[in-house]
Parts: sequence; C-alpha cells; structure tokens
Amino acid sequence: MPLISMRPMLKQAQAGRYGVAAYNMIDYNSARSIVEGAADLKAPVIVQVSVKTVRHWGYAPVAAWVRMLAEGVDIPVALHLDHCSDIDVIRRCIDAGWTSVMFDGSALPFAQNLERSLEVYRLTEAAGIGLEAEMGAIGGTEDDKFVAEDKALLADLDECVAFCKEMPKLAVFAPAIGTAHGFYKGEPKIAYDLLRAITRRVDIPIALHGGTGLSQEQFDRCIAGGCAKVNISTMHKRCFIDGFADLKTEKPKLGEPLPFIIRQYEAMKHDVSAMVRAFGSVGRAGA
Ligand code: 13P
Repeated sequence: MPLISMRPMLKQAQAGRYGVAAYNMIDYNSARSIVEGAADLKAPVIVQVSVKTVRHWGYAPVAAWVRMLAEGVDIPVALHLDHCSDIDVIRRCIDAGWTSVMFDGSALPFAQNLERSLEVYRLTEAAGIGLEAEMGAIGGTEDDKFVAEDKALLADLDECVAFCKEMPKLAVFAPAIGTAHGFYKGEPKIAYDLLRAITRRVDIPIALHGGTGLSQEQFDRCIAGGCAKVNISTMHKRCFIDGFADLKTEKPKLGEPLPFIIRQYEAMKHDVSAMVRAFGSVGRAGA
C-alpha cells in the first residue's frame, strides 16, 4: 500500500483501544524488519526516523526505502520523523515524502512551544500529513537529546488542554507522563492519573515515548488510558547490535556478511512481532 498519514491510523487505534508500534529505524535492514514484522501479523505500523539517522542516510534514500517496503505489503505504514526541533529538517522531510513529523518544542517555554508547533501545524496541514507535538520533558536519551532524571518534567494538564485546543487535527500528542527514553534503571513512575485526566479533556491519540523495558501491565494501562502510538527505539538498537555480535561470537571466522545481516533482521523482527502482540494490534491492518 502507499504510505499513509498517521492520523487516521491512530484515530482508529484510539477508538479500538490498541497501540500501533512506532519503531525507530536504523537502516534498510531494520526498516524491513519493522514493516515485514508487522505485515506478518496484519498490523498497522509506523516507521519513524531520528534526525541523526536521516542526516546520515539522506532524505531521499530513507523515503524511498520505506515507500518501497510499504508498497510491498498489505498493511497501513506511515513514515514519521521522530523528535525534531529544526523546522528546516521538517520541511525537507515533507518535501521528500514523509507522511508525518514530530515537532519537539518541549525545551521551550509554553508560549514559544505553542507558537512554533503552530507554525509546523500549518505546514503539515497544508501538506496533508500528520503532526506529533510534545509537552513537558521526557527523561533519558533519544538521538542527540539528553534529559537528566531530575530535569524530566511531567506535562501540565491545563497547558496540555490549551495547547491541543489550538491544534484540533494533531495526529498524536506526546505529553510527558513519567516514561523515559533508554533502558529504565528503576521502576518507571507512570502518571496514569495525569494520562487519564488529559484524555478526558483532549480528544487526540496519545504517544507513549520510552517504550523499551515497560511491562505488559504498563503497556495495557497506558493503552487503556489513551496511548495509541507506542515508541520503541532502544530495544531495536540492542537487537541490531546483538544480532550481529552474537553470530560473531558463535562463528568468529565467518567472513560472509549476509548471515550477519540475516541474523540482525531476525533479531529485530522477532522483537517487532512481540511488541505488536503486546500492543494488541494483531489483525488491525484492515480496521
Ligand atoms: P525507547 O528508546 O526507550 O524505546 O524510546 C523510544 C522513543 O520514545 C522514541 O521517541
């Protein structure tokens, strides 16, 4: 199928109370494991890309890989730009064929975050693609951004309501609710009450950042509370590296690259399948 916008995909997930897996791709092999892992289970999926990764490969190759992969399967696939505070990068992604982008103005004071998010909202609305915007400060490391534990900040309920009111067609909203990017060092303190309070007043699907390491119960509670997009990056990177390293340990003299690439693919795809099941999106491709 051609790439689609995240908005209808996530509206359906919000209504059906399941989560769509949003994986941060690394290269073609990783993008393929994400799309084919979801396709095997007839689940919609989001291939998202961090700014560093786009800059490494280039806009056109990333868009072409994901478009081609999407056209080879029978499930809805969206191509999304993860955390981006640079509007120039966003414009380039829109021009290259991305079907949604995230503007991350979370480091800015409320008024400036709103002003710049609105600027991007107008761009994405004109292009007919989806927008994700963030409020509060999600802890941990994502791409080149690091938010220390003591600087992580839960989103403010009234600010979330005021922010989303200005952008009624936001594809997905990312309030900081206590999850963090990277492997958790202790038990995450998820603010379920805040999540529910937001979704009582804001009718926009919610993005759950920091998916790596959450338990099935935590996924279930967040999805029941309105999270329709569940982000996974750190575990995908781990599978990418370990898939390669494990085979190297098993067969140190192996000089053929393809078995390594295949092992990486299988490790990544295995995790995608597990998460698609965990988020309840098996069989939802035709929803
Ligand atoms: P993890 O790296 O913790 O899986 O989080 C991914 C994420 O939220 C990307 O924005």
